[in-house]
Amino acid sequence: MDKKTFYITTPIYYPSGNPHIGHSYCTVASDAIARYKRMQGYDVMFLTGTDEHGLKIEQKAEAQGISPKEYVDHVVSIFQNLWKLLNISNDRFIRTTDDYHVKGVQKIFKELYDRGEIYKGKYEGWYCTDCEAFWTETQLKDGKCPDCGREVKWAEEEAYFFRLSKYGDRILKLYEEHPEFIQPESRKNEMINFIKQGLGDLCVSRTSFTWGVPVDFDHKHVVYVWVDALPNYITALGYGSDDLSDYNKYWPADVHFVGKEIVRFHTIIWPAILMALDLPLPKQVYGHGWLLFGDGTKMSKSKGNVVDPYILCERYGVDAIRYFLLREIPFGSDGLFTNEALIARINSDLANDLGNLLSRTTAMVQKYFGGVIPAEREVEPLDNELIEMASTLRDRCDAAIDKYQFSNALAEIWKLIARSNKYIDETMPWALGKDETKKARLAAVMYNLCESLRIVSILLAPFMPQTTPRIQEQLGVSGDAVSYESAGKWGVLPEGTEIRKGDTLFPRIDVNKEIEELNKLIPNPMEKKKEEPKAEAAPKAEATEKKEAPEGVAMIGIEDFAKVELRVAEVLACEPVKRAKKLLKLTLNDGEGERTVASGIAQWYKPEELTGHHIVLVANLKPAKLCGVESQGMILAADTPDGVKVLFVDEIPAGSPIH
Ligand code: ME8
Ligand code: MG
Repeated sequence: MDKKTFYITTPIYYPSGNPHIGHSYCTVASDAIARYKRMQGYDVMFLTGTDEHGLKIEQKAEAQGISPKEYVDHVVSIFQNLWKLLNISNDRFIRTTDDYHVKGVQKIFKELYDRGEIYKGKYEGWYCTDCEAFWTETQLKDGKCPDCGREVKWAEEEAYFFRLSKYGDRILKLYEEHPEFIQPESRKNEMINFIKQGLGDLCVSRTSFTWGVPVDFDHKHVVYVWVDALPNYITALGYGSDDLSDYNKYWPADVHFVGKEIVRFHTIIWPAILMALDLPLPKQVYGHGWLLFGDGTKMSKSKGNVVDPYILCERYGVDAIRYFLLREIPFGSDGLFTNEALIARINSDLANDLGNLLSRTTAMVQKYFGGVIPAEREVEPLDNELIEMASTLRDRCDAAIDKYQFSNALAEIWKLIARSNKYIDETMPWALGKDETKKARLAAVMYNLCESLRIVSILLAPFMPQTTPRIQEQLGVSGDAVSYESAGKWGVLPEGTEIRKGDTLFPRIDVNKEIEELNKLIPNPMEKKKEEPKAEAAPKAEATEKKEAPEGVAMIGIEDFAKVELRVAEVLACEPVKRAKKLLKLTLNDGEGERTVASGIAQWYKPEELTGHHIVLVANLKPAKLCGVESQGMILAADTPDGVKVLFVDEIPAGSPIH
């Protein structure tokens, strides 16, 4: 008989920046489930990938002077390396720039159009470039984007629309008939309220940028992000190609894991698209919580904690990070990520509880029995509780995993670990070891401890895939003795098994020393300033020849700095200056009006690479004539090993003063 299938997905991440611990969180959780289900005998399909189109990526690439594809290729390789490092066992990795996906999306778009589910119309509204979202007047918060708080622009364009408005009732019915569809439960009401306010049709194409999947029957348009991104879950299985075998085998997905901020897209838009295509719906969408920093904000950048997944793995080991992420925070809730909590978990749970149990047990088996537990063993009623707990642990883990309660599953495993450590205190093997007549009793005690550890090592494997083989090697068990089947049974450890103490699993960390070391890794901008008093950080756009900062540059007081008026300005136009090869002439909107600035950056930028960007302007510089151009200020740029880079501050409105 064919194995039962299990299909699990992560969001496809935007490669608009490097992967961080938040992306790792969802990916590690999905990986633990994929591994657990494989262990249970399922035929698992585990998908992750990257969402590579859109204006933001186009702009990021432009700012670096490379093509969008070059830009994403680089960042995607960083994502893939991190997943390798974290032992992510994904079966597939989809990139929305992959040919088969592009074709699949085009097919889906056309199909929806032919079915009358997509129509052509005009889009107008307040547009936020950063969120790539249109907003209505009433959705704005103080006239700004309600999501990111940035400036919005009135925009109008011809666009295709998906008839989302049709589907409100069917989606409400879906929630009613399948109460498990949205998990955790608490996220459902929010969705219901959203739908009850009335769903509008959804704009699904853009003409304002080109980095996207072209609408193949109307080349002015590219498919807008969510209709490009969401179908990845089926194109990865071959939907839209000639080979539908994987699609038929794995779809519908058993669960989409997503962060809580994109539950709406997955539980309203995605089912509606599938309904419009007459395709089966995913069985469940699980909206997990956010990792937060000390100040309660969503983490995207380091704020006083070292959260770079590479650094964390290097310092503590991959499995310690995986364990912490899944143990510390209940999967549906938000939770704080702090280095202190991480180190505390490593010391107490991993080094003390698990590590000590293993090293004490293996050391005693070696000491008392030369590594092989004798077959003659004397059981006592005292053993029953431990045996009962160990032989039923698998059921409790299964139940927690079925509900994606990682921290509960791990807590159950740690209860057995704690019980085993207590069992050592109760049975006092060191006393038994001194008494020749207690050999058989001592043998039973050792056997029970090894059995508990064997069961722990099997059930822990999906969470800590690097550590568990090390435990099993010390216990001398492999093959059937470490199968999922045998995790539900007591008394599997074969007679004559050779047990040997190995290296410490998790060395204890000296908390104070470690925190001190970590603090050194966090760049503190204030301290840096003190160390390197470079008053030379002054505007230098004109300087094309590098000047070394003179030794011991004079410090300036705040009153000197305050004399410089810095302001954000938008580059309206930019052109070369005929008589000067080095110069570009920029026309700026400085928030009050237009002004001209000449800047010696022609070697580094083509005029079209600057137009549209927001830059930092020194607004009160005495005007000067440069090769026939009157320059009314200068723009800030940095000297870097790769040449001069203009400071772009595109998300800040023109005219904003800088202090
Ligand atoms: O939204 N805590 O991509 P994205 C926990 N491309 N999880 C976090 C997190 C944090 N601080 N930060 C990110 C997109 N995540 C779209 C998805 S799917 C068809 C398209 C995780 O790069 C979390 O799972 O912004 C979140 O939903 C996801 O990364 C968002 O990644
Ligand atoms: Mg996001």
